[in-house]
Amino acid sequence: MQRTRTGTSSQTKFVLDESELPRRWYNIRSDMPTAPQPVLHPGTLQPVGPDDLAPLFPMELIGQEVSEDAEIPIPEEVLEIYSLWRPTPLYRAHRLEEAIGTRSRIFYKYEGVSPPGSHKPNTAVAQAFYNKKEGRTRLATETGAGQWGSALSFACKLIGLECKVYMVRVSYEQKPARRSMIKAWGAEVVPSPSEETQSGRAILAEHPDSPGSLGIAISEAVEDAAGRDDTAYALGSVLNHVLLHQTVIGQEALAQIELAGSFPDVVVGCVGGGSNFAGLAFPFLREKIAGRDIDVLACEPAACPTLTRGLFAYDFGDTSMLTPLVAMHTLGHDFVPAPIHAGGLRYHGVAPLISQLVLDGLIRAEAYLQNDVFASAVLFAGSEGILPAPEAAHAIHGTLQVAKAADEAGQERTILLNLSGHGHFDMAAYDSYFAGKLEDVALDEAEMERALRSIEGLPTPA
Ligand SMILES: Cc1ncc(COP(=O)(O)O)c(C=O)c1O
Repeated sequence: MQRTRTGTSSQTKFVLDESELPRRWYNIRSDMPTAPQPVLHPGTLQPVGPDDLAPLFPMELIGQEVSEDAEIPIPEEVLEIYSLWRPTPLYRAHRLEEAIGTRSRIFYKYEGVSPPGSHKPNTAVAQAFYNKKEGRTRLATETGAGQWGSALSFACKLIGLECKVYMVRVSYEQKPARRSMIKAWGAEVVPSPSEETQSGRAILAEHPDSPGSLGIAISEAVEDAAGRDDTAYALGSVLNHVLLHQTVIGQEALAQIELAGSFPDVVVGCVGGGSNFAGLAFPFLREKIAGRDIDVLACEPAACPTLTRGLFAYDFGDTSMLTPLVAMHTLGHDFVPAPIHAGGLRYHGVAPLISQLVLDGLIRAEAYLQNDVFASAVLFAGSEGILPAPEAAHAIHGTLQVAKAADEAGQERTILLNLSGHGHFDMAAYDSYFAGKLEDVALDEAEMERALRSIEGLPTPA
């Protein structure tokens, strides 16, 4: 029987008017207790300057990468495109709460309403805009799950740029519909490793059956962009400016949870490179740094446990060692994660800003096995209706762990999670789960030690 809900606490959706769209991105660097480590040039091992990055990125984004301004205005043209789907809704998960019988309140911010189906266009549109403004005509990028590739192809179409997507081979094969979506918005998509770059050819020569990884696809896209004047590189996560662009999520959520007359005790997100997690969490971490008590939980796969088991070290962002060195939690740049279905979480590193905040004790992390994650996804779909992306399902699973622990301790908590995308293009993964064919992979110690040998000899963070 349905429980009857009364008063303001009965409301399910908290929506903002288009006029309430945030007009500035929030830059957490201005509030961090410890400044992040400098990014190093891989040749000189000295901090990189704007000129080193200019072949790959427009100057405006390089400026944002190092900016310490607390807020950065969002250009009108970007706001105009954001308004196609933003502000996104915040939901109170009444039916999920009922299904698990928790005393806690669960809210989720839903980014799956964007045209490509995830949070990724929040930065794709901004990156395409600045590149076009500074005269580039083409962007090259990698994609793991296919969400980022489709988001960039969408943004390039609307802004008027060509786009080339190197799609991690295992996702290319698992998700033909994502490929079609990328093509529908006019971009070219190839499986990575490909025969089209030196990096790809070198990997295929050694491992003809390589499933690919984000690290490999990044090498291919960087090589493509570095070799052509008309082309810049666009990254869907990890970098400071990418995390910055995602902070519209958390700013909206702050206003919406206030509409609900509430405030979260716990903020939860999944972490691949860290952009959707940062997007929701950073505006709340601003409150935490100012003294509010908030537990901030990052959720990752046990097959790629970067934050829970990786080392904090300088490492390359890609497999072929083409990128600058960044200080972050890493499993080693030549680590190729098992082909789990949360393709967007198969990355050996994580955003340096998140790493530093974990070291400073402001964020904690947990890792989960994929069958447990899919069980939580199915429970969520059966109560809230939305079929989550496998990546986002990690945040749902983390939320359920928090609610369970609170119930066992006799506590009542308010939990806010980021539902970073829908899983409509991930139905093959659901089918594998239903057929009992999903393998639970936890990274084994010997493979981790092997992969971490690749960073021996690189500088150590101060
Ligand atoms: C729906 C969804 N959530 C999360 C992620 C992980 O990326 P990030 O950690 O940058 O948010 C991805 C990456 O592809 C994704 O598609």
